Amino acid sequence: MFFEPKDGHGLPHSPISACVVPRPIGWISTLDEDGTVNLAPFSYFNLVHNFPPTVMFACNGLKADGSPKDSWVNAERSGEFVYNMASFPLREKMNLTSKSLPRDVDEMEHAGLESVPSRIVGPPRVAASPICLECKTIKVLHLPTDIEANPNSIVFGKVVGVHIDDTCLTDGLVDIDKAKPLARLGYLDYGVISEAFAMPRYYDKTE
Ligand SMILES: Cc1cc2nc3c(=O)[nH]c(=O)nc-3n(C[C@H](O)[C@H](O)[C@H](O)COP(=O)(O)O)c2cc1C
Repeated sequence: MFFEPKDGHGLPHSPISACVVPRPIGWISTLDEDGTVNLAPFSYFNLVHNFPPTVMFACNGLKADGSPKDSWVNAERSGEFVYNMASFPLREKMNLTSKSLPRDVDEMEHAGLESVPSRIVGPPRVAASPICLECKTIKVLHLPTDIEANPNSIVFGKVVGVHIDDTCLTDGLVDIDKAKPLARLGYLDYGVISEAFAMPRYYDKTE
């Protein structure tokens, strides 16, 4: 089939998010102006650059009460956020933190998650997460939107601190079987990488 998104697809559910898979889940912790911890998952998330290591997450739409999503507001206002890897054992808790809660609710506490202070930035990290990246916000972009009430904001952050649980390392390499990152697929589907293979490659020395 072929369709132009502006014309609709004629399928029972939009296939768009199933067309770009698997997507990593950026489980983003931030602090509001009163120091309340916010935690939410974003599958429009990725590492976009290496020098310096740079990540992004995209906030689409508004909260049910019409206000902007807390992760974007907090990361922009405070200039800091933390990426926590959402792993398979943490899947239910990750899902719980996607609820839109009032700003004064500590979302780590709400999900029954233990937090650990970060080393460089203010927002804490999820203690049980195998990999966490402490980030400083470097830019927030606002992309054009088809629906006025649905702003598209992208938050970019420079990675300033990297935590890797030592139990996830095998011979000095991050072991995907041990870290078990969750991946977002289309619809209500998720995946876990269960098999990895290596291929030698020709590469540019700057990569
Ligand atoms: C697996 C998963 C991935 C999600 N990805 C996104 C995303 O990429 N962008 C987005 O705006 N919302 C996404 N959401 C919904 C947000 O997590 C949800 O709106 C959350 O309440 C935002 O919280 P905040 O207001 O604390 O930032 C996702 C939810 C789940 C469960």
